[in-house]
Amino acid sequence: MQRHLITSAIPYINGIKHLGNLIGSQLPADLYARYQRARGNEVLFLCATDEHGTPAELAAAKAGMPIFEYCTEMHAIQSKIAKGFSLSFDHFGRSSSQQNHKLTQHFAGRLADEGLIREVVEQQIYSNADGRFLPDRYIEGTCPNCGYDKARGDQCENCTKQLDPTDLMEPRSAISGSKDLEVRETKHLYLRQSHLKGELEKWIDSKFDWPILTTSIAKKWLHDGDGLKDRGITRDLDWGIPVRRGDTDWQGMEGKVFYVWFDAPIEYIACAGEWAEAKGGEDWERWWRTDKGADDVSYTQFMGKDNVPFHTLSFPATILGSNEPWKLVDHLKSFNYLNYEGGQFSTSQGRGVFMDQALDLLPADYWRWWLLSNCPETSDTEFTWEFFQQGVNKDLADVLGNFASRVTKFCRTKFGETIPNGGEFGEQEEALILNLDERLKNYTDFMDAKEVRKSAQELRAIWVAGNEYLQTAAPWSTIKENEAQAAMQIRLGLNLIALYAVLSAPFIPDAAAKLLEAMQLSETTWPTDARLAITLLTGGHRFTVPDNLFTKVTDEQREEWKAKFSGTRD
Ligand code: 2FM
Ligand code: ZN
Repeated sequence: MQRHLITSAIPYINGIKHLGNLIGSQLPADLYARYQRARGNEVLFLCATDEHGTPAELAAAKAGMPIFEYCTEMHAIQSKIAKGFSLSFDHFGRSSSQQNHKLTQHFAGRLADEGLIREVVEQQIYSNADGRFLPDRYIEGTCPNCGYDKARGDQCENCTKQLDPTDLMEPRSAISGSKDLEVRETKHLYLRQSHLKGELEKWIDSKFDWPILTTSIAKKWLHDGDGLKDRGITRDLDWGIPVRRGDTDWQGMEGKVFYVWFDAPIEYIACAGEWAEAKGGEDWERWWRTDKGADDVSYTQFMGKDNVPFHTLSFPATILGSNEPWKLVDHLKSFNYLNYEGGQFSTSQGRGVFMDQALDLLPADYWRWWLLSNCPETSDTEFTWEFFQQGVNKDLADVLGNFASRVTKFCRTKFGETIPNGGEFGEQEEALILNLDERLKNYTDFMDAKEVRKSAQELRAIWVAGNEYLQTAAPWSTIKENEAQAAMQIRLGLNLIALYAVLSAPFIPDAAAKLLEAMQLSETTWPTDARLAITLLTGGHRFTVPDNLFTKVTDEQREEWKAKFSGTRD
């Protein structure tokens, strides 16, 4: 049995995430976690809310709530929505947990002991109107790299360049909009990433199987030197993890906190501790410490492309620099952006469809299927209501849903709700087996390789193969002349439903569960041999007709939703 540690980038706490966020990390991570569990492997799938930093402070201030209360409330909301999308996290933690406080302070202490932290007196932007320093997202302005006029002080979301607040042109306060800003001195800790350049380069160069998107971004930051500038890991903020050196105070750093991008990835580790505590009796170190059994763990991270520099350089610098036996990521799967109707999804501007709104319209499986089968893997892709309607109507309703319904209803009418005996496979069935064997192998290979779109294409092709078989075999005609042959055809059809349930479960778990229930199957294994898979259920096995699995999105609904989501959310 293999062991898979899987993490999704942890979403900022500030508000409900949109469908672009969902497909950029949590949903493909869930697909992979479900697949690995279905293969019989041991999986620890972790996610959390990213609760520190300026996004959290700004959102709490806007909501008029104390920050901790705001985070607690939003964590509960995000957790509920995650369940609504059937995201199968083993634990959905919080970066503000005590475990993360302790570990973050521990790493800072280790890095200092290794001589990888320097104290820097630096110039920071101070807002006279707001009476405070304006780190990171507290400041907005024009990106010096691409000219985007809503770039934030930590990163430009348009071109992904990491920035310092002082890099921005035309800077203004994100709190008050004030341009009455001045530069003041303040002391901060810097991580000497540049000292680790050689080690990081060697490590990245050893990752032959990373997607091009990941390695190209990593190498860009590595080679133009930009990503390996020593980076400030502390901030003048109230909310966050207090700067300490392990268990002891850090002289001169009183009242300061660690930078959110320093503590957020450490939460991947801390979250395992939270999981162990919540479960009781679990050993989290066997997932994370190579000296405690994590050697044989395969660790995969999922994230949007804007997160790649932090995960290929900054976080590995923390791990490598600690000189302790922590697990490094093995596979790093990153995604481009999903756009919305000709523009960008945007949390700050409330543009697009948000996760809670999506679930109010349709069950999770519709969204899961469309998003995964159209995910922005090799380039940015576009959500339009037309594409969405076409995709779900054709694939889910016309192909999969229709197949399950026709086969079960036909059998019920002609043979009752028991799988019929009789008949032998002929040429058509042998051809189907050959086709399915090849497609099963492709599907499994693509899922192993985390090739999401190709996996979806292959799964769709497997559904289509069943439909085509049914169309040509035409048991409704066969039965007029040869009842035994019709029984064999419909028995095969019912077995295909069971096969589809198992294969489709990582993509559409709720529909798959309904199909399994209808086929009265509680134990399943991952199919590797088509002949075995389509002869699993034998004559005499009972089944029921599943409720209508998928209903079509009508033209009226499409137009109504398009109009409803054409503006911005309050
Ligand atoms: O981009 C984001 O949504 C960040 N909150 C992701 C953090 S991932 C990790 F480092 F924890
Ligand atoms: Zn830019």
